[in-house]
Amino acid sequence: MTARIEAATPAAIAAAAEALRSGGLVAFPTETVYGLGADAGNPDAVRAIFAAKGRPADHPVIVHLHDASAVDAWVRTFPEGARRLADAFWPGPLTLILPRAAHVSNAVTGGQDGVGLRVPSHPVARALLATFGAIAAPSANRFGRISPTTAQHVADDLGDAVALILDAGPCSVGIESTIVAFVGAEPALLRPGAIGVEALTRVLGRAPRAADTSAPRASGSLASHYAPMTRATLAAPGALHVEILSRQERDESVAVLARAVPRPVDFAGSWIAAPATPEAYAHDLYANLRTLDAAGADEILIEAPPSDPAWFAVQDRLVRAAHRNDDDRD
Ligand code: TXA
Ligand code: MG
Repeated sequence: MTARIEAATPAAIAAAAEALRSGGLVAFPTETVYGLGADAGNPDAVRAIFAAKGRPADHPVIVHLHDASAVDAWVRTFPEGARRLADAFWPGPLTLILPRAAHVSNAVTGGQDGVGLRVPSHPVARALLATFGAIAAPSANRFGRISPTTAQHVADDLGDAVALILDAGPCSVGIESTIVAFVGAEPALLRPGAIGVEALTRVLGRAPRAADTSAPRASGSLASHYAPMTRATLAAPGALHVEILSRQERDESVAVLARAVPRPVDFAGSWIAAPATPEAYAHDLYANLRTLDAAGADEILIEAPPSDPAWFAVQDRLVRAAHRNDDDRD
């Protein structure tokens, strides 16, 4: 079986819905990253996702819904704070972890008491959800790799493990959804994303608790989850040129993800000047890391972005990309 990339026409979306009905897997675009979808009500189909990704079976997957009115069928309670976040940010890049209804399969929840729900805003995702119904989908990458933001990224990673990839060009947000859990005493931020802490706080009336080690398991929270193959290192802007020089002195090649720092005139390797704003930076981030990964350098040097809260979600992904520890690599 070879992956078929198809433009997301109405006919291709109908074919994708048909594949889901027969228990198959389909990759589709969302506003954050591409997802690898299966029928959320079919545990065998959901289990096939884990095989395709090479992901441990006890990791939960997000159930994507067409609209918030479908939430009640998946949960025991829809807490007031979660309701307010859904009203404010759905459809959009927000996932809510809520107490699961009894019928929700362990294949979806990884055996946990919460179920992750998200109503995406991408028109192709929405058309597929309107045609088919609830779709369980993690990011459409091999487990532990960088999330895909184009159809070609999906094909590069999953190749023959997925029959159909709906192509709608690059994802607009570019990093995974913000995740807020409502399973403990207080709402907890499990994964930062495009919807920032300030926006969540405004709607909730208080800041969500930071995720701690007792929080529900999220594979995105494993320290090395978003690592490229090439060793990656963060460098403060003021230290970037010195760091490059020290590699050159050791005859090591580097590929650089810069932002504000200019390229040295004599630098011969791969160099990407990333966009200045956090939104544009996030939009390009995973494609940039894939490009630099493919450059075959000994190391990727990444200019650390500002420590401003607006950069929180990007910071989170970069710190994980730069963290390589085989003990906690998944
Ligand atoms: O933007 C996104 O959220 C993308 C698109 C495709 O929607 N999806 C995505 O899925 O990033 P995934 O599986 O790659 O990351 C979802 C994270 C995982 O770390 C998973 O462990 C966590 O959410 N998660 C999902 N359901 C959960 C649950 N019931 N309890 C705790 N964590 C959960
Ligand atoms: Mg993922």
